[in-house]
Amino acid sequence: MKTKFYVIAMVASLLLWGCTKEEKTTEAPTPELTTAVEQTKEKVQEAGEAVKDTATAVEEKVEEKTAEVEKKVEPMVEKGKQAVADVKAAVEKKIAPAEPVAETVVIENTNGKVVLPHKKHAEAQGCPACHGTQKPGPLKLGKEAAHALCQGCHKKNQAGPTNCTQCHQKKAQAIEGC
Ligand code: HEC
Ligand code: HEC
Ligand code: HEC
Repeated sequence: MKTKFYVIAMVASLLLWGCTKEEKTTEAPTPELTTAVEQTKEKVQEAGEAVKDTATAVEEKVEEKTAEVEKKVEPMVEKGKQAVADVKAAVEKKIAPAEPVAETVVIENTNGKVVLPHKKHAEAQGCPACHGTQKPGPLKLGKEAAHALCQGCHKKNQAGPTNCTQCHQKKAQAIEGC
């Protein structure tokens, strides 16, 4: 940019100088002055060409560099897009599991059926909290395992039922007759 400015300034001053010289010598131009004016004109033309060349060269360089940067940035953008897609997929999986989960599962036992808000737990705790590393499916817990798992987490989180009758619905079982 600076070079361009200087060249333009030089051209301008040469032009100015050329004009003043010409004006002053309109009445009686000496051959020396005519030659000087001609030479100045040539110089101005040359300078003009030089400016054009420089501008073209700069444009070419900029284009070249832009292409280089684009080439380098493109894979990064692709990687970023992929990462965003992965995160989205992970979030969706957590919010809405791929497999539809029953709203509730009823765990039958002789002490009164236990109704587990399955979907609520699945969404809040994630499948592995109860199903472990196995593919989620029918789960046989048994008394000891169930108490350890269910009550264990409720106590740890200080949320969820820990009293017998809060989980074992003896009355509800009798009313529903199942
Ligand atoms: C709070 C513990 C818990 C969580 C969390 C949990 N499950 Fe379950 N799941 C169970 C229990 C207990 C059973 C067995 C119920 C029974 O006795 O039939 C079961 C049964 C199932 C079954 C078979 C019964 C049915 O409803 O078809 C599937 C499928 C299942 N779970 C899928 C999942 C998926 C998928 C997730 C995570 C998105 C998940 N579970 C999260 C406790 C859990
Ligand atoms: C990993 C932790 C965790 C496990 C395992 C777990 N729960 Fe819970 N449960 C919770 C939390 C946290 C709450 C409280 C949720 C709330 O209040 O929104 C809760 C609430 C409940 C409630 C009350 C639901 C309501 O809407 O008020 C019941 C019933 C329940 N759990 C049954 C069970 C049973 C049965 C099991 C075992 C098969 C079990 N939970 C295993 C974390 C767990
Ligand atoms: C957080 C829920 C929860 C609480 C609280 C709870 N239980 Fe349970 N309990 C269960 C579940 C679920 C089963 C069934 C396990 C299975 O069979 O897979 C069970 C099974 C049992 C069984 C075995 C029944 C059978 O058919 O073998 C007995 C007995 C029992 N509970 C007694 C109690 C008593 C007594 C308390 C209170 C001190 C209690 N439970 C508190 C969830 C609970």
